[in-house]
Amino acid sequence: MKIINFKGVEIPAIGMGTWHMGSDKATYDEQKATIQYGINHGATAIDTAEQYGEGDSERIIGDAIKGFPREKLFLISKFYPFHAERKQMEKALDNSLKRLGTDYLDLYLYHWPGGTPLNEVVANMQALQDTGKIKHWGVSNFDISDMLELLSVPNGLNVMANEDLYNIGSRGIDYDLLPWQREHDIPLIAYAPVDQADTRGGAIIQNDTLTEIASRHNATEYQIMLAWVIRDGHTLAIPQTNSQKHMQENIDAANIELTNDDLMLLDQAFPKPTSKKPLDII
Ligand SMILES: NC(=O)c1ccc[n+]([C@@H]2O[C@H](COP(=O)([O-])OP(=O)(O)OC[C@H]3O[C@@H](n4cnc5c(N)ncnc54)[C@H](OP(=O)(O)O)[C@@H]3O)[C@@H](O)[C@H]2O)c1
Repeated sequence: MKIINFKGVEIPAIGMGTWHMGSDKATYDEQKATIQYGINHGATAIDTAEQYGEGDSERIIGDAIKGFPREKLFLISKFYPFHAERKQMEKALDNSLKRLGTDYLDLYLYHWPGGTPLNEVVANMQALQDTGKIKHWGVSNFDISDMLELLSVPNGLNVMANEDLYNIGSRGIDYDLLPWQREHDIPLIAYAPVDQADTRGGAIIQNDTLTEIASRHNATEYQIMLAWVIRDGHTLAIPQTNSQKHMQENIDAANIELTNDDLMLLDQAFPKPTSKKPLDII
């Protein structure tokens, strides 16, 4: 498994997303087993949010991780923008910790930019970090203008990561945000890295270049999409799956080394933007 360095913390480059998990009784056991399979096979970064199923995602993770050594995991959760004020944020965190059955998060993210002044949001996240209930804090759905503002407020530079939508079919942030983050050593957490597969990204895998490169690596198109997302050694991808087979394929994608030739062909098939694009958000 390819390991990335997240501001001094080593994390396997493929983790797991958990949106929509834990709410359906019929699939609960299968989803729990898939999370456990992922952890056992190296996908130890787990992304969730208080928003997901209004706590159901955090609850199923809490159930799944019982029995795993806590230090083996990198748990990421997020608070609603309307919980960005001091008291609400602390309460939101306590509720997330309770649902997850843990006493700390590795990373706590401001889910998307809201109305609370950014200097206050940062001060509140810093205060939580000082209590030890979160190891690090970060942001999500921030575009370059938001990141520039973030770096201008006290302690803004302590941001660990920014989580944005990024995949080969949606590479608007390649124009400005991603090069800027690399330059400032702020890693990306790429959500929807396979563009939600059949829901949104079904058309992407119909691409002949992608299929040819996949067959060259004896891989699936989705695995090539993941290998491409994590190609810079600076990005954590968090694909979501309910299937142990797909979980294994996703984990294995971290071992695919795309060649310069592959990358050039993929750039031709899925060109980099040549102008500013609005931030893609789901
Ligand atoms: N910060 C934010 O605002 C934000 C927004 C959206 C999402 N997220 C996070 O990012 C995570 C991932 O994003 P996402 O769930 O929207 O999209 P995604 O991971 O790109 O796509 C998930 C879909 O892809 C399929 N899939 C996964 N691996 C596959 C494989 N190897 N082969 C074929 N199909 C595969 C899954 O179906 P199967 O179950 O059949 O495998 C599922 O339908 C979320 O779970 C959430 O944690 C964050």
